[in-house]
Amino acid sequence: MRHTSVGIVGGGPAGLLLARLLHRAGVDCEVWESRERGYVEARQRAGILEQSTVDVLRESGAGRRLDREGLVHDGVELRWSGRGHRVDFPALTGGRRVWVYAQTEVVKDLIALQLQDGPPLHFGTRVRAVSGVETDRPAVHLVRGAQEETVTCDYLVGCDGFHGVTRQALPPGALTTYAREYPYAWLGVLADVAPSQEELVYAHSPRGFALLSMRSPTVSRLYLQVPPGTDPADWPDGRIWDELDARVAVDGGRLLERGPLTAKSVLPMRSFVTEPMRHGRVFLAGDAAHIVPPTGAKGLNLAVADVVVLARALAHRQQTGSAELLDAYSDTCLRRVWRAEHFSYSMTSTLHADPEQDPFTTRLQTARLDRIAASPHAEAEFAAQYTGAPIG
Ligand code: PHB
Repeated sequence: MRHTSVGIVGGGPAGLLLARLLHRAGVDCEVWESRERGYVEARQRAGILEQSTVDVLRESGAGRRLDREGLVHDGVELRWSGRGHRVDFPALTGGRRVWVYAQTEVVKDLIALQLQDGPPLHFGTRVRAVSGVETDRPAVHLVRGAQEETVTCDYLVGCDGFHGVTRQALPPGALTTYAREYPYAWLGVLADVAPSQEELVYAHSPRGFALLSMRSPTVSRLYLQVPPGTDPADWPDGRIWDELDARVAVDGGRLLERGPLTAKSVLPMRSFVTEPMRHGRVFLAGDAAHIVPPTGAKGLNLAVADVVVLARALAHRQQTGSAELLDAYSDTCLRRVWRAEHFSYSMTSTLHADPEQDPFTTRLQTARLDRIAASPHAEAEFAAQYTGAPIG
């Protein structure tokens, strides 16, 4: 039986960045990812990095390609009732901005670094079971092809997402969960065409929400609100472009530049929080502990904040013997998590048109958007939340 100080379940951005930060702090660790490398590197996720996420990636040595290829954005545009309003981030937040750089690219950069000089990273290695969660030696039982192995740890961290095994291995009653499902989903597409606008556009329309984003100067990333359970096959390219044009239209505006769609998928929307984010020596980070709907682009940024706090706490424990920061981990993270849950929920419910929605609700939504456009305080609050707070 092998032993490692910190066992990390899941090789997505949370697990990989945690391994990177621990490695730099001299804490021994190991990562197990059930999928193969090619799969992990192809997974399409969101693409907005907060200022503090970029700072962390740079400090951890994973910022080189991000600095070359990432697109710095100083604002977003909100559209509703046939008009648009740009929110200027640096002017309203004392210089904070966001970066457009896909999560898949962050993952590729972290994998390359870890394989080059980092702690062990095992792909295609599934955690069949977790045991000893009530002891000070939790263990994972691993399967890779026909091989089986058990590894014990001082600390085990579940970075294995919403459906991961780690949270499910904790005793019933150890955690309280809070959840909200939404009566809509997003259809996300990639298009081989230069973005028609320089910044992101979030559009409220009676036909439903639409988002114009991008991946590079030549690739657009576009989203439409659709009913949950929508089959992307029901959305041929022409229908998608027509619907985007109808939803983002502003008075006197131009139609979108069209191009071939290279990927289509439907994303569920949910809010979910686990409290606490720890049980004994088992910690949860990122999507394993909380989910936000994608409207606020907070998912990846929350995962980064979690693992920064956790890496500091684990390093502090190794250096001083004190578990003080580990004991504060859950509360520290949950403060930020609930702020982001609130922001994501309120952006989602302001911008989406519920199929059953009454006209009163629609007027509340437009009143909220009108307020952001009319009040410097409301606008600054939106900008502060979108760009995110420094990691405490
Ligand atoms: C994306 O580019 O994938 C993206 C951007 C902003 C969001 C969500 C997704 O709020």
